[in-house]
Amino acid sequence: MSVAEKHIPVLYGELIESLHFFDKWHNIIVDATLWLWGHASGVIEKLGKWDVFIGLDCDEDNLKSATARLLSLLSTQKDQPTVYCIHSNFSELDKVLSNIWNYEPINWVNSLNSLNSLNILYADLWVSSVHFDTAERWFSFRFDGPLDMRLDTSIWITAAELVNTLPYDKMAETFRIYGDESRAGFIAKKIIEARELKPFETTKELAEVVTKAWKDSLPRIFQALRIAVNDEYGSLKKLLETAHDKLASGGSISIISFHSGEDRIVKHFFREKSEAIIDPVTGQDKIPWTLEVITKKPITPTESEIEKNPRARSALLRVAKKK
Ligand SMILES: C[S@@+](CC[C@H](N)C(=O)[O-])C[C@H]1O[C@@H](n2cnc3c(N)ncnc32)[C@H](O)[C@@H]1O
Repeated sequence: MSVAEKHIPVLYGELIESLHFFDKWHNIIVDATLWLWGHASGVIEKLGKWDVFIGLDCDEDNLKSATARLLSLLSTQKDQPTVYCIHSNFSELDKVLSNIWNYEPINWVNSLNSLNSLNILYADLWVSSVHFDTAERWFSFRFDGPLDMRLDTSIWITAAELVNTLPYDKMAETFRIYGDESRAGFIAKKIIEARELKPFETTKELAEVVTKAWKDSLPRIFQALRIAVNDEYGSLKKLLETAHDKLASGGSISIISFHSGEDRIVKHFFREKSEAIIDPVTGQDKIPWTLEVITKKPITPTESEIEKNPRARSALLRVAKKK
């Protein structure tokens, strides 16, 4: 079975239900993490020729497989929306939208000269199972491969670069902040001792040193490096800011995250924008609230979804609506 056939999108029904489609309006929708358009397929079938769908992925190979699948699915849809598949980090969404005239839709229903606002943005964060289940350039400690971890191979920094050059305090901080690792300093010390003998090149070499230092820390150290290499937290914050700025009134943001660090960023962002800032002297709203939080608690997968797809276990969906 191919990866595409095996792929089960996480919280599929819950995500689709969370999107606020406009009835009598041209829907402009961004899927910030397209991959195999697992979620996108459910969205596109709700759209027609006056709507626009923009899918982004920073992994060029993943985007190519997405584009091929999209074209075959669109061929069965009579009333097609205009569909763009764009190779971009979602932190660059602002630039993509301002330069939309520069990109070609994959199906030429209508092309756009400009785009000022959106009504739906959603993202299914984390990596794809291709990243986890292949060794070539990825990061799983279950396989031996180059110590790379880049989602976008056009960026120059790799995990090897970080473990071979970060000074002790920066390395420990990376493990503590991005991996919630309580033995961050101890593990950083062991890595630095090992790299002085021979710089790290492969996932296996790093996994051996970390396992010897403290076996249970292995997933957290790998997670921390992946987050640092891809600037995942910085990108997510930029995505949320752009989405918030570009969303039309009544539009929605839905984000599926997979670990507490990402979820915290989404939760705090939604909370910050849902509370007015009050002038301490006049008691008046200085900056009014702009987002209504729809999910007071995150939506999580049902037991039966977890049974079918154990990778869904840690998924958390948060939704907010623009005032
Ligand atoms: C979990 S998969 C998305 C799966 C998709 N919803 C589906 O059901 O087919 C996440 C995808 O987002 C991409 N991605 C991760 N971080 C990104 C970023 N900062 N910008 C753009 N794409 C990103 C990854 O390359 C991967 O293909």
